[in-house]
Amino acid sequence: MIALLCAGLLIPQSAPIGEAKARIKDPLADPTASQEVRLGYRIFENTPKYASERTQSKLSCGNCHLNAGQKEGAMPLVGIASVFPEYNKRTGRQFTLEDRVVG
Ligand code: HEC
Repeated sequence: MIALLCAGLLIPQSAPIGEAKARIKDPLADPTASQEVRLGYRIFENTPKYASERTQSKLSCGNCHLNAGQKEGAMPLVGIASVFPEYNKRTGRQFTLEDRVVG
C-alpha cells in the first residue's frame, strides 16, 4: 500500500545502480533538513556506527531497504509513518512505528 501512496516519490525499480544512487534524496546534502532528520538518515545508512548502543548487528537498515529506503520494489519506507499505528495480527494489538522497527 505504501508503495502505491509514494510511487511518484520513489526511485524507479528499473533505475540502474549508479543512477539510483544519484537519485537518493540525501538530507545530509540539504541545508534545510533538521538535525533529527539528518541523524535518522545516518542511523538508517550506518546503523552500527550511529546506533551502536541499540544493536550488535553489523547490518544497517539500508542494507535491506535499498537506496536509503527510497527504491521502488526494495521495501521502501518513504511515507511509512503514515501507516502507523496499525493492528498487528501476531501480537493482537496496535503497533506503533517504533514497535515495528524494534520488532
Ligand atoms: C536483514 C534485512 C533488514 C534490515 C537490516 C532491516 N530491515 Fe526493515 N524490513 C525487512 C523486511 C524483509 C521487512 C518486511 C517483512 C516483514 O514484514 O517483516 C521489513 C519491514 C520493515 C518495516 C515495516 C514496513 C511496513 O510496510 O510495514 C519497517 C518500518 C522497517 N522494516 C524499518 C527498518 C529499520 C528502521 C531498520 C534499521 C534499524 C530496518 N528495517 C532494517 C528487512 C530488513
